[in-house]
Amino acid sequence: MNITVKKGNLADTKTQAAVLGMCEGEKEFSLLIAGIDQKTGGLIRDVVKKGDFEGKPSQVCVIYTKGTLPAERIALVGLGKKKELDLEKVRGAFARVMQHLRGMNIRDAATAMDWSLLPDQKEKFAVAVTEGVKLGLYQYTPYKTLNRDELKEMRELKMIVAPDDYPMILEEVRKTNMITDAVCFARDLVSAPSNDMTPAIMADHARKIAERKNVSCHVLEKGKMKALGMNALLGVASGSHQPPKLIILEYKGGKKGEAPIALVGKGLTFDSGGISIKPAEKMDEMKTDMSGGAAVMAAVMAAADLELPLNIVGLVPATENMSGGGALKPGDILKSYSGKTIEVLNTDAEGRLILADALSYALRYKPAAVIDIATLTGACIIALGEDVIGMLGKDEQLKKEIIRAAQATGELVWELPLWDSYSEMIKSDIADYKNTGGRVAGTITAAAFLSKFVGDYPWVHLDIAGPAWTTKDKSYIPKGASGVTVRLLVEYLQSRVKR
Ligand code: BES
Ligand code: MN
Ligand code: ZN
Repeated sequence: MNITVKKGNLADTKTQAAVLGMCEGEKEFSLLIAGIDQKTGGLIRDVVKKGDFEGKPSQVCVIYTKGTLPAERIALVGLGKKKELDLEKVRGAFARVMQHLRGMNIRDAATAMDWSLLPDQKEKFAVAVTEGVKLGLYQYTPYKTLNRDELKEMRELKMIVAPDDYPMILEEVRKTNMITDAVCFARDLVSAPSNDMTPAIMADHARKIAERKNVSCHVLEKGKMKALGMNALLGVASGSHQPPKLIILEYKGGKKGEAPIALVGKGLTFDSGGISIKPAEKMDEMKTDMSGGAAVMAAVMAAADLELPLNIVGLVPATENMSGGGALKPGDILKSYSGKTIEVLNTDAEGRLILADALSYALRYKPAAVIDIATLTGACIIALGEDVIGMLGKDEQLKKEIIRAAQATGELVWELPLWDSYSEMIKSDIADYKNTGGRVAGTITAAAFLSKFVGDYPWVHLDIAGPAWTTKDKSYIPKGASGVTVRLLVEYLQSRVKR
C-alpha cells in the first residue's frame, strides 16, 4: 500500500473512489465538497438531504458518479462535529473508509483534504490521514495459503494537493510512510508465531535493520552473557532449547561522543510462565511478549530512515520462558549482571529479570535517558484497561516528554506512582530483592524492581501489557498486534532533536 502525493484537483482525478471527509451538522458544504457536488449535479446534496449520510464519526457512504466525474465513486466519510474534530478522529475515519473500500475490492483511491477543518494544522492533517490509512489497512497474511488470490488489497491512495502545498505535504507524507512502515514491521514481528519468531530470528531481523546507514548490530550470545555474569537473563532462558540473544542496535546519527538515548525492550518470544506455568487459556497470546523488543527495533529503524541527528542504542534481551529440565525453580537465587541478587519466587515474573540485566548493561553507554518498554504485568490491564500504557519513573522531565509524545500520537499513557515505599514490597528475606511483590500493586512493584537496575540515569518504564495486542478492531488498529509505542518513541526522539 502506497500513499502518494500529487498536484492537481480531486474533481479532475481519475480514480476508483474519491474519498472526502465531511463534518456533521454543517449548514454549508466546504469549497472542496461544494465544487465536487456541483460537478455531479448534486449527488452529495441528495444523500445528505435524504438523511443517508450525516457525517457521524467514521460513517461511510459510497455514491456512484455515473460519468459526471473522472472518479467512478465518491466515498464520503464522517468526521463528526467540527468543534470536536481532532487528529485521532481523522486517523480513525480515514482508516474506516479505506477498509470499507478495500472490502468492496477497490484498489486505488484518491483524496483531497478540506484544510478549513483544521486550520493551521495542514501538515498534521495530512500526516493523520496517512497514519490512519496505512495503519488501518494493515493485515497479516503470510500464513494464509488457501485462495490467496481472493485476498483484497488496496494498492494506492493519491493525496491530491494544490501546487503551493505540494512540497510540504510530500515531505510530511514521505516521513510518515517511514514511521508507519516501522509500526507495521513491529506488528509483523509480534504477529508471527513463536516457532517462527525465536530469539535467533529476532536477531536476524535486527541485523537487517543494521544494513541502514549509521546503524550497527551486535548480538551477545550465551557464552558472552555467561562471561559477563548476566545470570538473570540466562536464568530465564535456561528452561528453553532456544538460545537467548541480547540484541544491541546502535544508531549513530548524532554528534560523536554525544550521550545516546537507550531504548530497552522486553523480547520474550514466548512466555509459558516457566515452572510457575500459566493457564492454557489465552497462553497463545504470550507469543506477543516480545512486543516491547519489536517496538524498540522498529523505533531504531525509523530513526535511521528519518536520519535523526541523535545517537540511540536499542537493547533487546530475547529469550523464551519455558519449563524444561534446566528451568528456573521458585526459590532459586540469581546473581544479576549488576551484582545484585534476586530471589525468584515466581518464574512467570520473568520480564523484570531479563530487563534487569539489559537495563544495567545500558548504563555502559552513559545514556542521556533510558526508556524501557515491556508487556510486563497483567496487573497493568487490571489497573488501566486494555488500551492504556502504564508509565512509571521518577524523572519528571522525561515523563513530561513522554506524555507530550503520547498526546501527539494518540497513544494513551497514564502514570502510576512509584513512591519509595513500594520498594519494601520487593525486599527478599535472603537475597537483595525478590522478583514479585505479590498481587497488590503488581505493575508498581514490577517497576520498583526495575528501578534498582538503572542507577541514577533518567529512566521511564512503559508497561504495554494492555495495548500491545487487541482482540477486536479498534479504529486504525485492526485486531492483533498494534505496534504500540513505535510512534510514541519516534515522536519522542524527534522532539529530542528540536530541543
Ligand atoms: N508477560 C506477562 C504479562 C502479561 C500478561 C502481558 C497478560 C500481557 C498480557 C508477564 O511475564 C507475567 O507473567 N507477569 C505476571 C507477574 C506476576 C507473576 C508477578 C503477571 O502479570 O501475572
Ligand atoms: Mn510471565
Ligand atoms: Zn512475560
